[in-house]
Amino acid sequence: MKPLIAANWKCNPTSQKEAKTLFEGIKKRVKNIKNAEVVICPPFVYLSILKGLTLGAQNCYFEEKGAFTGEISALILKNMGIDYVIIGHSERRKYFKETNEEINKKIKRAISAGLKVIFCVGETSQERDEGNKTNIIKNQLKEGLEGISKAETKNITIAYEPIWAIGTGNNCSVDETMTSILFIKQTLNNLYNRAVADKTRVIYGGSVKGENSNSYIKEAGASGLLVGGASLKTEEFVKIVKSSI
Ligand code: PGA
Repeated sequence: MKPLIAANWKCNPTSQKEAKTLFEGIKKRVKNIKNAEVVICPPFVYLSILKGLTLGAQNCYFEEKGAFTGEISALILKNMGIDYVIIGHSERRKYFKETNEEINKKIKRAISAGLKVIFCVGETSQERDEGNKTNIIKNQLKEGLEGISKAETKNITIAYEPIWAIGTGNNCSVDETMTSILFIKQTLNNLYNRAVADKTRVIYGGSVKGENSNSYIKEAGASGLLVGGASLKTEEFVKIVKSSI
C-alpha cells in the first residue's frame, strides 16, 4: 500500500492567492510521484479553486442537507469531487467540543456519501502522564467506529495524533509511535478481525518535519503522515513526501 501523506492546512493561508501559490508549488514538485498518495486538505472555501492533486476537507457535518446554517455536508463535498475528509481532529474536539458520538455520526455520513475518512485519535499529555493513553485511544476507536461494518472500514484511515505533539515541535518518538500504532491495530483486531487490523492504514501526525518524517514510515510502521505546520511550506512538505517513498 502506498503511504498516504496528507497536508492539513488548518485555518491557513488567509488569501486565495496564497492558497493557489502554495498548492501550485506543491503540485509541480509532487505530481509525478507515483509511490505516495498526496492529499491536500485546505479550508473549505479553497477546495473549488485548487485542481490537479487529491483534495480533502478538514471537517463535515453529520446531516446530509437541510436547515443547518453554516455547515458543509459530506454529500456537498462528494458532489464537488472531493475524495477525503478529516474527522475528529483534536482541534475540533477541543475548540468545537466534538464528542466521540458526533464524530461517529460524521464518519458514518461521510462513508455513505462516498468519502474516504481520515479519523484522528490521540491522547493529551495529562492522559498520557496519568497512564490513561491506551484507554483513551481504545474508547475513541470504539465509540468513533460504532456501527461501522467491516466492509466500510476500507474507507477509513486512522491518524494517530498525540495532542501533546501537535504544533509543539515535540514530535512523538519512533518507539512510542510504533507502540501506539500496534495498540491501534490490536484494538481494530478486537473490534473487527485481523484482516481489518492488517489492511487499515494507521498514519502518524504531530510536528512532522522533513528531518523526522522518514523514521515514522521506515521505522515506526506508519502507513503515512498527517502534516500540519510543515505542509504550509512548499519545500518542507515536498521533502516529507519524498522521504516517505
Ligand atoms: P502539526 O499538526 O504538524 O503542525 O503538528 C498536525 C495536525 O494537527 O494534523
